[in-house]
Amino acid sequence: MSQPERTLVLVKPDGVERGLTGEILSRIERKGYQIVELNMLNATPQMLAVHYEEHEGKEFFEPLVNFMASGPIVAAIVEGERVIEGIRVLAGISDPTLAEPGTIRGDLGRDWGEGVQKNLIHASDSTLSAQREMDIWFG
Ligand code: TYD
Ligand code: MG
Repeated sequence: MSQPERTLVLVKPDGVERGLTGEILSRIERKGYQIVELNMLNATPQMLAVHYEEHEGKEFFEPLVNFMASGPIVAAIVEGERVIEGIRVLAGISDPTLAEPGTIRGDLGRDWGEGVQKNLIHASDSTLSAQREMDIWFG
């Protein structure tokens, strides 16, 4: 048996503010993955700059960082076989208008006419990002 994989999940400030933390974490648990760390916190600009460094210089970078600093975030480490891929599928694609119904972003998200996509959840996209991001939020 291979080692169970771990990924970083964030319930973004829109998810917390809208009272969807339980719904989002519940979907992850009902899928069969295990929450092994959980923390509610306010992100610092420095954490967000590192977390989103691949997007620095893009037009949505500043609205994104401002949005992510606008309220509390629930950070979780989630464990399970192929959990990195699995949570990305549960989350759906980035644009909540186009995300498939059945996904977290597709069922619960929409466009609010702002300069940033408020799409409720972040999930690491590779083993490298997962390790890097778990260090930022739980290091
Ligand atoms: P990205 O890493 O492309 O998406 P994902 O979260 O699905 O991995 O982008 C990071 C976040 O930036 C994304 O969740 C929402 C925001 N974003 C925008 O606001 N506008 C955009 O055009 C893109 C591509 C992303
Ligand atoms: Mg990404």
